[in-house]
Amino acid sequence: MAHLSENNRKLDVKYILIPKPGDLVEEIRGFSGVCLLRLPPCEPSEKAYKLEGIESIVSSVANALGKEATLIILGEPIDLVHIHQGLADSIRYQQWIAIKRSPLIEGGELSALLCNHWGALVHTKYNAPLRHAKTRIKYTYCPACGRTTKDYGGKKHTYHEYGTLISDIWRDIDSELGGDITPIIDRFADFFGIEQYCELRFFDLRPLGLKRIAPPHNIETGKQESYDLPETQESRLILGDCLEELQKLPDNSIDFAFADPPYNLKKKYCGYMDDLAISEYFEWCDKWISELARILRPGRTCAVLNIPLWAIRHFIHMEKILDFQNWIVWEALGFPVRFIMPAHYTILCFSKGKARNLPGLTGEAGVKDIFIPQSFNSLEPLAELFCLRADCIRRRKSLQVNDRGHLTDLWWDIHRLKHNARRVDHPCQLPPQLMYRLISTFTKPGEVVLDCFNGAGTTTLSAHQLDRRYIGIEISEQYHNLAESRHKEIILSLNPFRKAERTLTAKNSPVPRMPKVSYEVPKKTLQLEIKRIAKKLGRLPNRDEVIEHSKYSIRYYDEYFASWGEACAAARTTGMSEYPLDTLEKRKTQLNLFE
Ligand SMILES: C[S@@+](CC[C@H](N)C(=O)[O-])C[C@H]1O[C@@H](n2cnc3c(N)ncnc32)[C@H](O)[C@@H]1O
Repeated sequence: MAHLSENNRKLDVKYILIPKPGDLVEEIRGFSGVCLLRLPPCEPSEKAYKLEGIESIVSSVANALGKEATLIILGEPIDLVHIHQGLADSIRYQQWIAIKRSPLIEGGELSALLCNHWGALVHTKYNAPLRHAKTRIKYTYCPACGRTTKDYGGKKHTYHEYGTLISDIWRDIDSELGGDITPIIDRFADFFGIEQYCELRFFDLRPLGLKRIAPPHNIETGKQESYDLPETQESRLILGDCLEELQKLPDNSIDFAFADPPYNLKKKYCGYMDDLAISEYFEWCDKWISELARILRPGRTCAVLNIPLWAIRHFIHMEKILDFQNWIVWEALGFPVRFIMPAHYTILCFSKGKARNLPGLTGEAGVKDIFIPQSFNSLEPLAELFCLRADCIRRRKSLQVNDRGHLTDLWWDIHRLKHNARRVDHPCQLPPQLMYRLISTFTKPGEVVLDCFNGAGTTTLSAHQLDRRYIGIEISEQYHNLAESRHKEIILSLNPFRKAERTLTAKNSPVPRMPKVSYEVPKKTLQLEIKRIAKKLGRLPNRDEVIEHSKYSIRYYDEYFASWGEACAAARTTGMSEYPLDTLEKRKTQLNLFE
């Protein structure tokens, strides 16, 4: 078993055959357990073809389910998008879980990104955060140095010996939507093994023989004239509102349009998308997306980054005017910290008419060596499992260990800039590696890259470094000026992303810091002391019990920890080792790679 559910109360799984959709509705009428539907997969050439009538089938299921039920649909991104649109009012959206496909078969020339994931769309009939068992995924180990793939640094005492908390990207089980998905079903049976449920009903919809229908043919690439931007409109940053500024650009003139819009997350984030603020947000999004589609050259790509729930809605608009290319899953967070952690963003890629062969896959990207860490390569991601410890990277390099994998639409080797000291003064800037990869995949040198929410300039700066022309639109004068000054740094041969690479110290943070605390007793020692007391009592101690049993004064606990939860972090977990528990032997074998 590749996971561990803390309550260990697996649901009974009932496999039910259904000859026709009406029977499905009868089988689940009033059922208040977990209902799992498997949809048929599609051929890679049909990734933009949706299943005919699937929205109404799943909508009837959702209506018939009991009021405490959970509904999970396993399917291709295009089907999950359309199903969610049909469900939005009647049931609450909870999660989009991206599930990795079986290893890809190598060989052959590729001209489009391979689709390396399918999805589980989770909704509930109850209107509250998702209820499930705390579930952990086993640690993975670097095949080169034998240590955990992720570096847990000095916090190993607060982790669990089994593994990390589960996130919404499952890469540890290789499976095909159309193949044996027993491990996925088993995981959901454990994951939802909570008090309120006892049964999971699994329905395989493949025997229904649903047909796939082609999307409307939007644009005939060959019939569109491209337009070369005049010199005066090349490579510039524009201070202004994106809608107004986009309207000034000519049709068919941009080679890659990118948008990382404000996410509107100040509004209530739940599946009920019928409040006015959300509909206004999407009306606005539809307008700038339509403008991006207008100015895009035929065969080129428009990419929009957002959280999966909002990406679903963008998809519905984009497929009306453009052709679906890829649902890129970007796993942006390295450390799940609570129950199921939303760890990914979607980068929706649509082309104007038929997509051209991608320059990044045909060798036309002209990728040059810019200031990026040695472990990162735009077009050849790190292979699964290899770690990012500097000493291991150095040894792999000197011993020429091949640690590169294939570029697909599942990206997990680029992390968000989490630390203030690694950011310039903008709250949500993207890591440059993400833009290097997108720009290198979708454009050739000299082509025009546009970002209509340019922020601190990550897109235009990356394009500049990669010898592309660029246009960046930003409404805030402060961010616009910041981006301007960073472009000047490139001209002076400085790396505008040097902060993102810096080694962190308390001194280099741009924000005012708390006064430096010198700990008379290390925090780790205090956390381990609480763990010792918890073991003695058989439960987590409260503050009074720590006063009674600890050999350290309570003032240390009060002063050094932001919350009692933080003080008890080690007591709630087992602590972990960087090496597999079972194995000195295994470790030796792994180290052989270096010998
Ligand atoms: C999510 S941030 C983009 C960050 C950017 N990708 C980076 O790495 O720095 C969104 C940006 O859009 C800008 N913005 C918001 N509304 C805008 C509008 N109507 N026109 C242009 N920019 C806008 C915000 O000021 C913000 O800088």
